[in-house]
Amino acid sequence: MSTQLTLALSKGRIFEETLPLLEAAGIRVTEDPEKSRKLILATNDPHVRVIIVRASDVPTYVQYGAADLGVAGKDVLHEHGGEGLYQPLDLDIAKCRMSVAVSVGFDYANAVRQGARLRVATKYTETAREHFASKGVHVDLIKLYGSMELAPLVGLSDAIVDLVSTGNTLIANNLVEVEHIMDISSRLVVNQAALKMKRERLQPILEAFERATKK
Ligand code: ATP
Ligand code: PRP
Repeated sequence: MSTQLTLALSKGRIFEETLPLLEAAGIRVTEDPEKSRKLILATNDPHVRVIIVRASDVPTYVQYGAADLGVAGKDVLHEHGGEGLYQPLDLDIAKCRMSVAVSVGFDYANAVRQGARLRVATKYTETAREHFASKGVHVDLIKLYGSMELAPLVGLSDAIVDLVSTGNTLIANNLVEVEHIMDISSRLVVNQAALKMKRERLQPILEAFERATKK
């Protein structure tokens, strides 16, 4: 097995918020993914490279060992299931919450009380399925890939399951949060085989991330 380490990150907030942790491990990414079209980025450490993948693809790259480690949100990990992944650290970055939201004026509590069958649009179908099953609420799930907030506004669904941070997106679209499903932050994920085979290279990074996270 090569002694090079491949770290999977997604562009945007996860990349930005992981940079200080990498810095703490003495690793600097030498290219900016917002400016470059490259998907494999070099670092100042010849043994470490970064690959840029979709946020929801990070667990897949790490599961199959195409990346040795990665950073992924709990939302994404919950949907993926975590198979083949070791999750040593909550990095306490990209924090938000997973919630149920409906249009202002939709009486969600009453619909639930009456045992109505609800149409729920979401990218997070597994999480939504578990949540509503645990409450005994019957739902038809509609899978979307983004802009969930639109669904109740145009009659596609009664409710959505989506991420909320400031709440600005909900307010801007006349929606209101009616249930909190779980708190979300991003985790470091490591390929289970790499953890054994590349322990010497991985250990200092894990320790530096842990120290930087505790600050
Ligand atoms: P994909 O590209 O795979 O569709 P995405 O567009 O959700 O994913 P990002 O918006 O970069 O990707 O989000 C990455 C992670 O950041 C999410 O999985 C979630 O854990 C977290 N996150 C998403 N939205 C917010 C937010 N508004 N505030 C804080 N953290 C967030
Ligand atoms: C996420 C999420 C919500 C929004 C919530 O979208 O899917 O739409 O953030 O954040 P808020 O409560 O602070 O409004 P996206 O990844 O597009 O986030 P961004 O546009 O905030 O970067």
